[in-house]
Parts: sequence; structure tokens; C-alpha cells
Amino acid sequence: MLEAHFNQAHDGASRRNAEIEKTVFHLITSRVLKKGDRILDLGCGPGLYSSRLCFEGMKVTGIDLSRRSIDYARAQAERDGHDIDYICADFFNIDYKETFDAVLQVYGEICTFSDEKRDLLLSLVHRALKENGIFIFDVSTRELRMQEGLKNRWYFSEGGFWRPGRHLVLEEGFDYPENDTWLNQYIIMDEDGEVKVYRLWFHDYSLEKISRVLEQNGFRVENAWNSLSGEFYRKGGDWIAIDARKV
Ligand SMILES: C[S@@+](CC[C@H](N)C(=O)[O-])C[C@H]1O[C@@H](n2cnc3c(N)ncnc32)[C@H](O)[C@@H]1O
Repeated sequence: MLEAHFNQAHDGASRRNAEIEKTVFHLITSRVLKKGDRILDLGCGPGLYSSRLCFEGMKVTGIDLSRRSIDYARAQAERDGHDIDYICADFFNIDYKETFDAVLQVYGEICTFSDEKRDLLLSLVHRALKENGIFIFDVSTRELRMQEGLKNRWYFSEGGFWRPGRHLVLEEGFDYPENDTWLNQYIIMDEDGEVKVYRLWFHDYSLEKISRVLEQNGFRVENAWNSLSGEFYRKGGDWIAIDARKV
């Protein structure tokens, strides 16, 4: 997983460096984020955004469930002399009150939550934000699913995303269009015959739907783009990036 965050050949666990640089540049030049802001990066991974935002003069807290990612992020921060508060925790357990100017959640994390979990996260983010604070995140649209298509394949791996050792991958996609929901199922078989099933669920959004959800949870959409790097919004894009203000 950690390797997948850094791999510049694909956008597996994080987007590639050039896109991350463009995103940070866009958020700063459009004045969505400012020097001195207190930022909470939810699902910060190995700190690819947190470290850049700290370099730009923001005071950053990064939270991730992955011990390996947080250990890596902390080591990098120490090496670079960055004062970033990295916490290894479940972001559904945060308990901040009016602490941050902005909360960031990058790379479609919201799409992986059920409606109940999504609303729970929005309530935690709302509470964590100062008055007029902003929540910056992105969601995928049905367009992305259509581009990627339903996979139905198997392959053998010498070691990679799912396992360090040799394993067989059986991959199958399921579409539930009535709920804008998509399931990618992976059955992984180790050399010793052990089998594990991983199910990745994705809930896609339109601008109308995410705006409605935000409104119901105490936010107002300030800006919408087709990417966090500031691509002008047009209907039919594969991603929607949002800057939503706490009201
Ligand atoms: C797709 S990655 C994106 C990482 C980072 N935002 C980026 O774009 O480089 C999602 C991250 O969220 C973390 N994550 C998922 N569920 C989490 C949870 N409940 N609490 C904390 N972190 C979580 C994963 O460990 C992973 O690092």
C-alpha cells in the first residue's frame, strides 16, 4: 500500500506528484487555503499533501489508520524539519471542536462510505471546523465508473498491492445503477492456499446530489471544480472537487 502511494506509473493510492503539486498550487493561489491556516488532513496517507501544506506555512494535523503510512510521514517530517502533528487513528473517532480553518479529504474517500457513515463524517468535520471553516474534498461521478468499466478477470502477481508475496487475483465488478453504487470484488489466493475476499464499494455523486447532502449537513458549496487542481467545472466530468463552507 505504501509503495502504491508513491508509484508514479499510476494513481493507485494517491495521485501522481505533478497533480498533487498542481492541487496545492491551486488551493493557495485561489485563496481557498492561506498561510497560517490550521488544516486537518483526513486520511493523509504518507503525508503527500500535509507536508506540502506545512511547507507553505500552514499548521497541519494529519490522521490516517495506516501505521506504516503514519510512521513514514513522521520520519519525513522529522527529516524535513516540518512541525506536523501526524496521528494514527480512525477518522471516525475524531473529537475536535471549532479547531480548524479547513478540513481536507482527498481522493474520493467519501465515495467509499455508506450514506450513514458519510453523514457521520460530515457531522464530525462540521464540529471540527471553526466558524466559516471549509471542507475540501473530491468525489467521483458515474462517468468515472463508465470509463473504468466492470472488470471480470484474473491475474497472477509476484507481489504488489494486495500482498508482498506471490498470489492469484480474481477480480469482478458489480454495478448497482439504481443506487449509483459500484462494487469491485477481489478474491486473493496465497501460495499456501489461503483465500481472502476484499470488497471495495463506491458511491458516485452528481453536483446536485453532493450539494444536497452538504446542505442537509450544515454546509454550503462555495466552489466546484472537475478536479482539486482547479479544472473548470463542467457536467459530465469524471470527478467533482468541492470547497464547502460551514454555515
Ligand atoms: C485513497 S488513500 C488517499 C490518501 C491521501 N489522501 C492522498 O490522496 O494521498 C485513502 C487513505 O485513507 C486512509 N483511511 C481509510 N479509512 C480511514 C479511516 N477510517 N480512518 C483513518 N484513515 C483512513 C487510508 O489508510 C489511506 O491512507
